[in-house]
Amino acid sequence: MKYVLGVDIGTSGTKTVLFDLSGNVLGSCTVEYPLYQPKNGWAEQDPEEWWAAVCDSIRGAISKAGADPSEIGGIGLSGQMHGLVMLDGEGKVLRRSIIWCDQRTGKECDEIHEKVGKDRLIELTANPALTGWTSTKILWVRNNEPEIYEKCRHILLPKDFIRYRLTGEFATEVSDASGMGLLDVPNRCWSDEVLEKLGIDKSLLATVYESPEITGTITTQAAEATGLAVGTPVVGGAGDNAAAAVGTGVVTDGSAFTTIGTSGVVFAHTSEISIDPKGRVHTFCCAVPGAWHVMGVTQAAGLSLKWYRDTFCQQEIDLAAQQGVDPYYIMDKQAEAVPIGSNKLIYLPYLMGERTPHLDPNCRGAFIGLSAIHTRQDLLRAVMEGVTFSLRDCAEVLSEMGVHPNRMLACGGGGTSKLWRQMLADVLGCPVSTCASKEGPALGVAILAGVGCGAYSSVEQGCEAVIRVNDPQPPIAQNQAEYARVYDIYRALYPSLKAQYAALAEL
Ligand code: XUL
Repeated sequence: MKYVLGVDIGTSGTKTVLFDLSGNVLGSCTVEYPLYQPKNGWAEQDPEEWWAAVCDSIRGAISKAGADPSEIGGIGLSGQMHGLVMLDGEGKVLRRSIIWCDQRTGKECDEIHEKVGKDRLIELTANPALTGWTSTKILWVRNNEPEIYEKCRHILLPKDFIRYRLTGEFATEVSDASGMGLLDVPNRCWSDEVLEKLGIDKSLLATVYESPEITGTITTQAAEATGLAVGTPVVGGAGDNAAAAVGTGVVTDGSAFTTIGTSGVVFAHTSEISIDPKGRVHTFCCAVPGAWHVMGVTQAAGLSLKWYRDTFCQQEIDLAAQQGVDPYYIMDKQAEAVPIGSNKLIYLPYLMGERTPHLDPNCRGAFIGLSAIHTRQDLLRAVMEGVTFSLRDCAEVLSEMGVHPNRMLACGGGGTSKLWRQMLADVLGCPVSTCASKEGPALGVAILAGVGCGAYSSVEQGCEAVIRVNDPQPPIAQNQAEYARVYDIYRALYPSLKAQYAALAEL
């Protein structure tokens, strides 16, 4: 065995990366797909489009590397969490997947809290029912599309649907299953009590594995579709955040990372389970067998900047195409020229509602303090600052729970921006490093594949063999003080808008 393969089924696209056993990238390929938003606050994707992208990106990565597929020792799958995929008895997709950032299930959250009891639910699953959670979407389909629910025989998460297509197995693993709202997170198995109280038949759910365990092997049909070798093992893998933790070496107590991907996450490893009784941050099983993580999530982190780019930055997109650079590179330079506080402009990043700390599907984005002097550049910097403040909100809750990480890694697309990393260091008040490898989740699940097929003795040993961390960027004291003044105002804005957000949702 020479190689391990990581496949990350993200929200904007699927990225497949082939690594050698030291974690060097030999071939990488990303294939994008659309996000469907049929109504305000709804978000869906087509599982068949994921599958097509997975096949193309696997072929692309292998051919770029010029590798012999039979030398791939194992495959790991990572992906966007919480999405609902429903299949009929023949394995056919019954409807588009309702994905993690969809906000339509407020009523179903109440229904679950009534049926199970909110405190009991938190005791059993470590988390309250949230609009993003798979359980609420299952109930939404049962309440609103009974003819589809009737035909449903299998419920899978996005990456586990891909596993089914690759191996023919209905399997999941503890980290992603934790985000369904149906897993007994302390005991790492389905909660019979929750399933019974919600009237969900356990046979609809997949078999639960630990992340490095082998869950199946590549079938002949999948080999034809992807170019992989028949019989290659596929390990459990992990939800994208748990996978990024392995891919950044955050696998021991005291370590943490911040992701600015489509969503934004502050994630800390913990070998003892720790639950927020208010449910503002999530406690999930992590990809290290027998350990957990706590994480705060901001719904629209990179999504805010992407929305801003696509809506207001055609000029920068055109210029970037002429210069052969990424539009975000040009936008970064522009934001850098604006002072801290964006000339007294604050952005609230609630484009898709918010989880940590508000747990409010109705809130929406806002620019506060707009003046006729403001330019597009001020708005741009305000977007980056607003996202960073919402990550500070996440870190504040972790700190209230006694989780105080001593090192912070930055990853995701936003982590590649030096400006954004400095903002994080200044706003969170701690040194921020990056990993030498930028592959986060894909590398994480490739390491898990290496563990599953015996190349590494444990997740920790795999990380030691592969992960290299760059020198940290320390916070700058003067910037910290300036951001702190703006953050205090930012914090006070949501409570003063909460009632109006609710009223707006009723229109
Ligand atoms: C985590 C979450 C997101 C998605 C998409 O709870 O919803 O991070 O996994 O990346």
